[in-house]
Amino acid sequence: MKHDNQVVFVTGAGQGMGQAVVQHFAAEGARVAAVDINLEAAQATAAACGDNVIGLACDVSDSSSVKDAMAEVETQFGRLDVVVNNAGIGSVDAFLDTPDENWQRVIGVNLTGTFLCCREGARLMQKNGGGVIINVSSSAVMSGEGPSHYCASKAGVIGLTRSIARELASSGIRVNTLVPGPTNTPMMADIPDDWMEQMVAAIPLGRMCEPEEVARVASFLATDDASFITGQNIAVNGGMVFI
Ligand SMILES: NC(=O)c1ccc[n+]([C@@H]2O[C@H](COP(=O)([O-])OP(=O)(O)OC[C@H]3O[C@@H](n4cnc5c(N)ncnc54)[C@H](O)[C@@H]3O)[C@@H](O)[C@H]2O)c1
Repeated sequence: MKHDNQVVFVTGAGQGMGQAVVQHFAAEGARVAAVDINLEAAQATAAACGDNVIGLACDVSDSSSVKDAMAEVETQFGRLDVVVNNAGIGSVDAFLDTPDENWQRVIGVNLTGTFLCCREGARLMQKNGGGVIINVSSSAVMSGEGPSHYCASKAGVIGLTRSIARELASSGIRVNTLVPGPTNTPMMADIPDDWMEQMVAAIPLGRMCEPEEVARVASFLATDDASFITGQNIAVNGGMVFI
């Protein structure tokens, strides 16, 4: 299978895209740590995927929590090959009314959380000579259609990816950014119908993305078929924006 012998760390694995990514890698032979701030959700994802998947609690915005989760992966699986930094949050704030704590929380999870999991994951991957990191941004960076903290955090993920792709290349670690457009997950459930209709109307392929379609691209990036791809933005958006 495509991911035999790989150990994969997926954040935000309790639902939505993260859950689909765990399911895809597990079905293709990987051993997977399904990581989420919500332990019950992480464990439910793991239980649905079989014995090769463990559910772990981890707040990606907290350095010691990330270190503990990575240590647990090393204890249970003995190595790490792939990190998928999927955990992300939004908050509906008009720019001028954005509370400091919402700014810090969104940047803390989406950008600092990605940084922490990249750093700790790369430290572990170096021990077995390399690996793959997949960071998750958003087409909102290109369109500007999103709250300021969300767009800033997801733009930061792209800069982080490019910098560390260069720095980690000599360690055999490839780093890329997946850039989804509107995707059918619980994150989108509260969006009003008229806003959703407008969004879908702007997608040339005429529908939202399904989480499994993002998972398949993450899977490709983690295989040797993508062996010469690093530092890049890979869009999965039905043609909505060009990056
Ligand atoms: N759904 C979309 O349309 C869309 C579009 C572009 C990008 N994205 C990005 O894709 C990623 C996944 O989105 P989704 O729609 O599946 O989201 P979701 O809200 O459905 O799921 C996110 C998961 O992350 C977990 N999480 C939240 N904070 C966490 C933390 N501090 N530590 C660990 N886990 C945490 C949640 O518990 C949840 O299980 C996010 O980074 C999101 O910004 C989503």
